Amino acid sequence: MLEKIKEIREAMERELREAVSSDQLRELKVKYLGKKGSISELSKGMGKLLPEERPKAGQLVNELRQALEDNLAAKQQELADKAMELKMAQEKVDVTLPGRPVKLGSRHPLTLVTDELKEIFLGMGYTVEEGPQVELDYYNFERMNLPADHPARDMQDSFYFDAKRLLRTHTSPVQARTMDKLCPQAPIKMISPGAVYRRDDDATHSPMFHQVEGLVVDEGISLADLKGTLLNFVRQMFGEEREIRLRPSFFPFTEPSVEVDISCMLCGGKGCRTCKDTGWIEILGAGMVHPNVLKMSGYDPERYTGFAFGCGIERIAMLKYGIDDLRVMFENDVRFLQKF
Ligand code: DAH
Repeated sequence: MLEKIKEIREAMERELREAVSSDQLRELKVKYLGKKGSISELSKGMGKLLPEERPKAGQLVNELRQALEDNLAAKQQELADKAMELKMAQEKVDVTLPGRPVKLGSRHPLTLVTDELKEIFLGMGYTVEEGPQVELDYYNFERMNLPADHPARDMQDSFYFDAKRLLRTHTSPVQARTMDKLCPQAPIKMISPGAVYRRDDDATHSPMFHQVEGLVVDEGISLADLKGTLLNFVRQMFGEEREIRLRPSFFPFTEPSVEVDISCMLCGGKGCRTCKDTGWIEILGAGMVHPNVLKMSGYDPERYTGFAFGCGIERIAMLKYGIDDLRVMFENDVRFLQKF
């Protein structure tokens, strides 16, 4: 038995010394420590020894097992160190090299359109105003000439927090907020882009979308000023060849109210799928500011008049970039976003 232990120990030490890979180490472990390994066989052979020989032999077998485990671990470490050294020697890192450029994202089509809108109107001397998205019912409806029981409120029912506060359904309340801020100053020439919310959700409606509001108040402002301003805007945004037409409409905060169409940029007015064969595409609502709205904001409607307009920014982006489903704007799919 002692002979046998010594033999195994010598063989084991030699094989360990010669091992050059962790695969080999694994094989050695199985060979000696596995269920049918040499050391396990030794343990099983214990029973055949004389009782007085057993403690000594048991001790030696345990020492052998311990020695193997220690040596295997040491050898494993040695191999790992060697591999690392080799890798370091091969892969020289030059810390003086310039870093790799970080990939920049692109701007969202809505940001692009909003920036362009601002450029166009800043060029016409407008300021850019902001209003809260959590708005008071008072500004969202009442100041826009939509008292509590007005049926037109149903057209834009929104998300309410309580009886007084809601997510604004349009950017129009910024008209009243701006007049409150500036009254009795004139002229007012402002636009206000931003997010608005409605209980709508389909291919052409999202519960959150964006509008840009426009407001001009001064003495002697007429519908002709509105038309000239919008024509200028449309031509800068969609091309010099565009025409606009005004159709009568209704909004509680304007009188008269109009719906504004642009000549179709796809077919040039001949008629196609996008313009539903009419040659015209509706892009915004507008009108002359209702005397009640002016009055509530402190402007005397006998002296001051104004025009206002409200336009969906997604709609402009869809027309400008030929996007046919509104929802892709909010899905954050980089394949879509990378196109801009
Ligand atoms: N606030 C209207 C809407 O969201 C759009 C609008 C129409 C705004 C006419 C105006 C306007 O300023 O004059 O449907």
